[in-house]
Amino acid sequence: MIPVTDRTLWVITGAMTSPPADSLLEEIRLPDEAATVALAGRLARLAVLGDVIALKGDLGAGKTALARAFIRALWAAADGAPAEEIPSPTFTLVQVYDCQPATVWHFDLYRIKDPEEVYELGFEEALSGGIALIEWPERLGRLLPRHRLEVVLEQLPDGPRLRRARLYGDAAWQARLSGDRRQAGSG
Ligand SMILES: Nc1ncnc2c1ncn2[C@@H]1O[C@H](COP(=O)(O)OP(=O)(O)OP(=O)(O)O)[C@@H](O)[C@H]1O
Ligand SMILES: [Mg+2]
Repeated sequence: MIPVTDRTLWVITGAMTSPPADSLLEEIRLPDEAATVALAGRLARLAVLGDVIALKGDLGAGKTALARAFIRALWAAADGAPAEEIPSPTFTLVQVYDCQPATVWHFDLYRIKDPEEVYELGFEEALSGGIALIEWPERLGRLLPRHRLEVVLEQLPDGPRLRRARLYGDAAWQARLSGDRRQAGSG
């Protein structure tokens, strides 16, 4: 008997308008850090309360650079003032920012040993009352929320600054990203 997974169900039922959570939605070349900042600004404009954005990639791939720019964009929206210092949460594991439209929780889970440790970092509050940016989301195992945008950053060999971002997500994220592309195209 064929094991029935979400993906086989999706194919069997022919629900083509509802792709699985891990569909590749966009692939973007980021020739320099300004391009990463622009991508972060775009995601920040789309972000709403309850969003989970998982930032994957090797050491130095640009996860913190993207998170910083995302927080700066939403900080400016909330406060109008220049952004405060945005440290990497490498050692603190989480940093919290009072932004608009929601508080941003920036996690770096590289150092956690057990997924359950995130509960001590305010994970539940981040999911219910904020926007969560999560570096090293792999560390969460099955605690990683299914409804999320996943940004996979890779350093490409053709230049020290060149990165590639791949965005994965569900139908809801697909609709948000493509609506934003259409607006950019018409503007
Ligand atoms: N296109 C680019 N996008 C993002 N960062 C870039 C780019 N080009 C160069 N950089 C540089 O690469 C470095 C990326 O470091 P960053 O701390 O963001 O990586 P990271 O993925 O968070 O690593 P870690 O896993 O150690 O937390 C920064 O020094 C940044 O200035
Ligand atoms: Mg980092």
